[in-house]
Amino acid sequence: MKGLKIAIVGKGGVGKTTIAGTLARLFGRDGYNVLAVDADPNTNLAITLGIPEDIAERIKPIAENMDLIKERTGTPVGGWGLGAFVLNPKVDDIADKFGITAPDNVKLLVMGTVKASGSGCMCPANALLRALLQYLILGRKDIVILDMEAGLEHFGRGTAKGVDVMLGIATPSAKAFLTLKRAHELALELGVKKFYVVANMVRNEEDAEYVKQMSKELNLELIELIPFDRSLMEADVRSISPLDYNPNSPAILSIKRLKGKMLNMWGYYVDINRKAHD
Ligand SMILES: Nc1ncnc2c1ncn2[C@@H]1O[C@H](COP(=O)(O)OP(=O)(O)OP(=O)(O)O)[C@@H](O)[C@H]1O
Ligand SMILES: [Mg+2]
Repeated sequence: MKGLKIAIVGKGGVGKTTIAGTLARLFGRDGYNVLAVDADPNTNLAITLGIPEDIAERIKPIAENMDLIKERTGTPVGGWGLGAFVLNPKVDDIADKFGITAPDNVKLLVMGTVKASGSGCMCPANALLRALLQYLILGRKDIVILDMEAGLEHFGRGTAKGVDVMLGIATPSAKAFLTLKRAHELALELGVKKFYVVANMVRNEEDAEYVKQMSKELNLELIELIPFDRSLMEADVRSISPLDYNPNSPAILSIKRLKGKMLNMWGYYVDINRKAHD
């Protein structure tokens, strides 16, 4: 296995950041070097990762680092100068230079976003993030985990190109699942190798049946059901990482299972592909 790049996608408010941040820390505790990337303009991954609030508040997103963007892409932030645009900017030192150290062997990169109208945005900040995911060379024990912006708009910008696994999060609702159905299609077009679904905020048997049924109907591979868990909300209002607030709460135990499954399945997936190529 040569590293793993994971993107977390789904409708707004389904638990993407909670799951991305907790998974990142759990991978880190297993000895992986984790780079957590906050690709959501409304950033809050830092707190979930356990970075203190006063530090989190002062993080300057990469997209606002004018000098870096200009240096690496040849184009200023918000500029289009396609003539001089560097399509494959140098990225291998970005995590080291700009990554913020979080607990459990995790580094955080906050991308921020330059909002551009229309799809297929070629603006430099996005080009840098795309390049980061596509060309970052990972070692066997490296994991990159991306907390994506809510919804499907980012697919038009191709930000998640180069990702190995996409985790689609859905609460027990038709809207959340229909977003994932479309995300699955778009992920395949982007060349993402695997798309798994995680149901979150499952309150009872009825919810569990519903998410299983929806996954089946929409041909989605459901790999974990995370229960509704008040302690996650309590952690959120107190700006504490859920893993520190209540490390043995039912949702955390479920995310631990998810972490184990992902590592197992990914090892297996890489293996069977290798056999197919031999
Ligand atoms: N299993 C759960 N049980 C109860 N509350 C949860 C659960 N998972 C997440 N939450 C709560 O739901 C809220 C939204 O979660 P989170 O911010 O992770 O979602 P998101 O998908 O990242 O949202 P956005 O689209 O705004 O980025 C938070 O208050 C979080 O604590
Ligand atoms: Mg979020």
